[in-house]
Amino acid sequence: MSKILIKNGVVVTNRATFKSDILINNEIIEAIEKKIINKDVECTVNAKGCYLFPGGIDVHTHMELLVSETVSSDSFYSGSVAALCGGTTTIIDFANQEKGKSARDAFNLWMKKAKGECLTDFSFHVSITDVNEQTLKDVEYLFKEQGVTSFKTFLAYDAMKIPLKDLKILMKKVKQLGGIVSVHAEDGKMLEVAKDKLLNNGLLGPENHPFAHPVEAEVCAIEDIIKASKVTTCPLYIVHLSSHKGLEAIRKEKSSIIHVETCPQYLLLDAGVYENDTFLDVAKYILSPPLRKNEDRKSLWKGLRDEYIDVVATDHCPFNLSQRELGKDDFTKIPNGLPGVEERMELLFSEGVNKGRITLNQFVDMTSTMPAKIFGIPKKGELKVGAHADIVIFDPKKKGLLKAKKQITNCDNTPYEGLTLLGKVRTTILRGQIAVDKGKVLLNKGHGKYLKRKALSF
Ligand code: URP
Ligand code: ZN
Ligand code: ZN
Repeated sequence: MSKILIKNGVVVTNRATFKSDILINNEIIEAIEKKIINKDVECTVNAKGCYLFPGGIDVHTHMELLVSETVSSDSFYSGSVAALCGGTTTIIDFANQEKGKSARDAFNLWMKKAKGECLTDFSFHVSITDVNEQTLKDVEYLFKEQGVTSFKTFLAYDAMKIPLKDLKILMKKVKQLGGIVSVHAEDGKMLEVAKDKLLNNGLLGPENHPFAHPVEAEVCAIEDIIKASKVTTCPLYIVHLSSHKGLEAIRKEKSSIIHVETCPQYLLLDAGVYENDTFLDVAKYILSPPLRKNEDRKSLWKGLRDEYIDVVATDHCPFNLSQRELGKDDFTKIPNGLPGVEERMELLFSEGVNKGRITLNQFVDMTSTMPAKIFGIPKKGELKVGAHADIVIFDPKKKGLLKAKKQITNCDNTPYEGLTLLGKVRTTILRGQIAVDKGKVLLNKGHGKYLKRKALSF
């Protein structure tokens, strides 16, 4: 381990922007001062003209996830390399309990997938699909012994959904422990009705996918889960918000225990892509909730600006085109999900900060500081003395072109093909070690540490 001095950068926190040097001692930030002179350092990095951001925290990834009889194309190894190249130093993935099996088993399985592979630091939310006495004991064990402070639920999809009464039971338990429940907000019944109508009319092409996931299903689920959170006083995290109407439902009820996430795809893409000509040109944009209208995108940007939306995470879940072919004759069999872990920070900087939709400090807040606070990750999410030295040296003047052929993510397509971005990650530092420098990955497989998280502090 070593001492690194970063000179002449502009430090950005969620509240302030100032010129400063940063001294790193082993894993920790030792000093942040205007001018640091230290002769003991092993390495001095000149960050002139660059911003210094806290390492990105992507709290919504799905590496190696089994979906529609196939597996998302990034492993914990390839996905975490992509994350580091894009300035993300921590990921939280979802360990999914299989119905009828234990939540502990899910955690153990995901640990097996990630340990010795993941380069970023990592943690898991555990998705609860079966609420019973044993599950509640497992939740307590996972919380107290493994530092899992967040539990995800679904109100839709046969393999995942739980009834509202069980959501409330889980919320009561998680509230007692001091954690948070997150929800995929789509109402299962409404999705079933919409899907059956399409299938009964022989509408099987991928362009029908958005009609199988109406905005009303998102709104209905949001209203229900907010009620459940209020009754139980359990903190709530709504994942991948996609619509204006969904945001309006939240706006009325937003409080200190209700947290909201959206994703770059809902900010940058719209449902126009579902009118593309070929099967694959449509199928490569299939995710749930689906892409919405241009007005929805605008409203979500405003929601971020007004701080009704707290976090931008990715829901990173890539699939190769051959995998999308599984749904060639029936869109309901197309594996759902889009990539994003590699480009989240650069996309949000270029399209958000540069275009005046969010401020530089809000950018830091929603990509790092808030995720760390909401999910109880000590020592991360802020550039301050005593914090982990997870630092991104970011060149705001450097351009980048997004192309599937160039990307690190293990996927043969990107929804952002041909998009030019202004602002690029130059160097990523993880706990005091240079992880990536100008695209060169310098850490070994398995470098990432599992993070035991802490009860919510706000
Ligand atoms: O389509 C999506 N979002 N796939 C990933 C799993 C989920 O529902 O978050
Ligand atoms: Zn989801
Ligand atoms: Zn997801």
